[in-house]
Amino acid sequence: MKGWQDSAYLVEVKAGERLAICQCGKSSNPPYCDGSHKGTEDKPFIETFKEDKTVLICGCLESKRKPYCDGSHSRL
Ligand code: FES
Repeated sequence: MKGWQDSAYLVEVKAGERLAICQCGKSSNPPYCDGSHKGTEDKPFIETFKEDKTVLICGCLESKRKPYCDGSHSRL
């Protein structure tokens, strides 16, 4: 497995909140970017949310809908 865990992160976001979600797999604070991608070609996925909601962020880094979970972890 190349990700951090074999399931998704359940994250509650607020309207106007901006998240930088790690896409390199090197963050020590997953699923958030901690700057560990510096020096690589990887970049975090950055999104500002328009409403309060709960999102499922991929923890296995195998999702085809990154940074969001598509259930790929269940096939690992
Ligand atoms: S630490 Fe992984 S994208 Fe920034």
